Amino acid sequence: MLTNKTITFIGGGNMAQALLKGLLYFGVVAKNIKICEPNPEKQEQLSKQFGVLVSTSSAAVVKGVDVVLLAVKPGVVPAVLEEIAPIINKETLVISIAAGVSMATLGRGLTSGQPIVRVMPNTPALIGAGVSVLFADKDLPESKLDLARKIMAAVGDVDEVSDEGLMDGVTALSGSGPAYVYLIAEALSDGGVSCGLPRPLADKLAVKTLIGAARLIDESGEHPAVLKNQVTSPGGTTIAAIAQLERSGLRSALIDGVRAAWQRSVELSK
Ligand SMILES: NC(=O)c1ccc[n+]([C@@H]2O[C@H](COP(=O)([O-])OP(=O)(O)OC[C@H]3O[C@@H](n4cnc5c(N)ncnc54)[C@H](OP(=O)(O)O)[C@@H]3O)[C@@H](O)[C@H]2O)c1
Repeated sequence: MLTNKTITFIGGGNMAQALLKGLLYFGVVAKNIKICEPNPEKQEQLSKQFGVLVSTSSAAVVKGVDVVLLAVKPGVVPAVLEEIAPIINKETLVISIAAGVSMATLGRGLTSGQPIVRVMPNTPALIGAGVSVLFADKDLPESKLDLARKIMAAVGDVDEVSDEGLMDGVTALSGSGPAYVYLIAEALSDGGVSCGLPRPLADKLAVKTLIGAARLIDESGEHPAVLKNQVTSPGGTTIAAIAQLERSGLRSALIDGVRAAWQRSVELSK
């Protein structure tokens, strides 16, 4: 379904490049992909690395394509919409990955009722291990929604919400979430170093433990609480650590962190 689709990216930064790699891997041919990107260095890198057409003008790359994917920073979206609204076809699917830019803003900017899907991806998309959550209006044709699903599946898992208000929670959990995990990885390594481990070994053990435990939750299908109980022997080292982590408020710190990101996302979406 994807291989014969023509796709234009507006913005050729980190997220666009992750998607580009995934789409080429899944068989979309480079000649079907175009990018509008103002930065001359990025233009050269994009055309050299991916063999796609790169232009400074959205007019040259938007007209007549199947999909336009907005991959610019949220603040740039209104100007981009103003630029493309007069030239974009009515049937072109518009996918926006811009954080906090609402469906209403996108609809107002496009003016001709193009089909729109709003998406929140996350940075593990850069290695094909992202998770993206989609939101679309109920009247969006299934074929358009399916096209958006397939495009985002090029960089990881895909899920959907039917209430746009939930996109703030998605931003707070999976959109911002990789940063929380980096903090945890760093702190675990510090813990190892404070027990006398050399830093390189502590760094490696911290990250491999996070990857292994996350994969075990995912692949076993067990609830994290069940897996935690399996590794806490009575009177042992792990339960001693868990009791201390509970006293230090690890759970509530993480819950409060996600809620703070959610509140900020709600503020930014207004
Ligand atoms: N990275 C994440 O963790 C993440 C997660 C979820 C969602 N998102 C969303 O993904 C979007 C892209 O993020 P990113 O990290 O890929 O940003 P990025 O690396 O800064 O990429 C944005 C690109 O757009 C270019 N640009 C600026 N103005 C433009 C215009 N008028 N027309 C075309 N291109 C233009 C920028 O060029 P210059 O470099 O010259 O400015 C830059 O190359 C954002 O809206 C963000 O909210 C990102």
